[in-house]
Amino acid sequence: MVYLFSNLKYPIIQAPMAGGIATVDLALAVSKIGGLGFLAAGYKTPEAIEEEIYKCKESGLPFGVNLFVPQNDPIDESLYSYKERLEEDFQVPLAIPEPNDDYWTEKLELVKKYKVPYVSFTFGCPSREIIEQLKENGSAAIVTVTNLEEAKMAMGNGADAICLQGADAGGHRATFQNVDEDSNVPLTELIAIIRREIPLPMIAAGGIMNGKDIHLALSAGADAVQLGTAFLCTEESGANPIYKQALKSGEFKETALTRTFSGRLARGLKNEFMVKYESIAPRCYPAVNALTQPIRSKALKDGNPQAMSLWASTRFKEIQQGTVKDVFEKLIRELERCQS
Ligand SMILES: Cc1cc2nc3c(=O)[nH]c(=O)nc-3n(C[C@H](O)[C@H](O)[C@H](O)COP(=O)(O)O)c2cc1C
Repeated sequence: MVYLFSNLKYPIIQAPMAGGIATVDLALAVSKIGGLGFLAAGYKTPEAIEEEIYKCKESGLPFGVNLFVPQNDPIDESLYSYKERLEEDFQVPLAIPEPNDDYWTEKLELVKKYKVPYVSFTFGCPSREIIEQLKENGSAAIVTVTNLEEAKMAMGNGADAICLQGADAGGHRATFQNVDEDSNVPLTELIAIIRREIPLPMIAAGGIMNGKDIHLALSAGADAVQLGTAFLCTEESGANPIYKQALKSGEFKETALTRTFSGRLARGLKNEFMVKYESIAPRCYPAVNALTQPIRSKALKDGNPQAMSLWASTRFKEIQQGTVKDVFEKLIRELERCQS
């Protein structure tokens, strides 16, 4: 195993999952058993993420923090008409938000202040200068990429490692730009393509649900794997009960990529909201995310999964329940069987 993950017993990383899912309990349970837990700073206030970082730091266990690289797609007429349509259909007042950077500077200061061991980035590549500062401060800087071009950029800016996100991944596409992309390249092929040209330590993510998937990703050239959906229904996950129920109930048959909830492509359980609004949803992140927040909150209150964003990978039907320990130990048993 490469130096970057040599202090971990297992090269298994719990994906940062924004929206209250990657709790301190989830991250620490994964790190305690020998993997690497991640906090998700996206959408949180600096105060909220500082409290979580403090708890993880206090534990003495390895952990990571994930930050969203700021972006604000320009707002145009399509956002106003989307707002009007949603207001009419849901009878909820909505607001066009001001541009914001998700407290980028404050969050960077926090990961420096607490010398967070692993800092990963999504939705773009931080500058060479920022990456250098983190490295000098003792953090490993990991840039999430989705293709060779982005991997080259991450390497060019001095990243310690890349996290390669494949097409099956649950949640937002991590593309540097808010583009239309619908890649069908299987994760193991993508790993091999990147491995040929990028000598950096590589974490592979997207549709990894069992020990065999982990074995295949490692055999294809990844140094570690990152799993999100696989941990969604654990007891330590902060996913709300309606979300967990939707994942396990059999009510939802498939996932799809959608812009309807956030204005940026993300993979989730295909529900009525996605089907109804896909053709009119503007490509406008993070404004659409803020715009639809009251609708999603109301749906949660009403217990209505048809208007909630239920991020999950294509492989969600294989989700296991139980504690992190139960799920993790099963992964290890399966992995060891493949390796023997
Ligand atoms: C509910 C959910 C929330 C996510 N939030 C984040 C996030 O805040 N930051 C990030 O880098 N990736 C996020 N992701 C993507 C994961 O990092 C990872 O790419 C993905 O979970 C891997 O695919 P899998 O879900 O099949 O394991 C999220 C994924 C899910 C399912």
